[in-house]
Amino acid sequence: LSVEENIMATHTVDRASAHEILPQFTARWSSRAFAPTALDEAQLFRVLEAARWAPSGSNTQPWRFVYALRGTPEFARFLELMVPFNRSWAAHAGALVALVSTDTLPDGRPHPSHAFDAGAAWMSLALQAHAMGLHAHAIGGYDRTAAPAALGLPAGFAPQVLIALGHPGDPAALPAELLTRERPSDRKPLSDLVFRGSFAPAQAG
Ligand SMILES: Cc1cc2nc3c(=O)[nH]c(=O)nc-3n(C[C@H](O)[C@H](O)[C@H](O)COP(=O)(O)O)c2cc1C
Repeated sequence: LSVEENIMATHTVDRASAHEILPQFTARWSSRAFAPTALDEAQLFRVLEAARWAPSGSNTQPWRFVYALRGTPEFARFLELMVPFNRSWAAHAGALVALVSTDTLPDGRPHPSHAFDAGAAWMSLALQAHAMGLHAHAIGGYDRTAAPAALGLPAGFAPQVLIALGHPGDPAALPAELLTRERPSDRKPLSDLVFRGSFAPAQAG
C-alpha cells in the first residue's frame, strides 16, 4: 500500500472533524495494541527523519532521540522507567524512543522553547508513523528523576516523553481494562478553545 492508502485503509477511524482538514489529523490516535515484533531499524529511522524536519526556535533543533529495539537489554531498561500501567502494554512495542531536549541555547542562555519544539518533533514523528501503518503512543507516565541516568543524558537535557512504536496488534489480545480504552478519543469543541481578541470574557456594558 502507498503511504496515503495506509492512512485511509489501515487506521481509518470514526472521528468527525467540525471543519474540513487533512485526514491524517483525525486518523492518528494512540492505540495500545502492538504486534510483538521488533521494529525494523530502517522504519524507525524513517519515523525519526520526519521528526528531524520539525520547526524549532531559531532552528536550534533542541530534540534528541534515544532508542531501544525490542529484544535488547536497552529495551528492558527503558521499560523499567515506566509506571506499571504503561509498562504493561508498552512491553509489546517494537521499539521505544525517549524524546529529550536541551534546555540551553547554543550561546548558553536558557532555551525558551525547547519543550515546545520537542512537541512539534513528537507530532511529526506520530503522523509519519501513522502514515506508514505503525502505531506511535506517547508516554508521560515514567520516572523523570531516574530517566537522565538511565538514558545517559548529558547535563542540561530534559526527558520529555517516552514513545512506544510498532506494528499494530490484535486489540482482542489486550486485557479487558485496556480493551475498553482502545478507541479514538474526541476533542473539546473549537468554541471552547478559540477567542477573538482576548481570552478574558467581554465586559458587560
Ligand atoms: C505528553 C503525552 C503524555 C502521554 N502519556 C501517556 C501515558 O503515560 N500513558 C498512556 O497510556 N497514554 C499517554 N498519552 C496518550 C494520551 O492519553 C492521548 O494522546 C490522548 O488521550 C489523546 O488521544 P489520541 O492520541 O488517541 O488522539 C500521552 C500523550 C502525550 C501527548
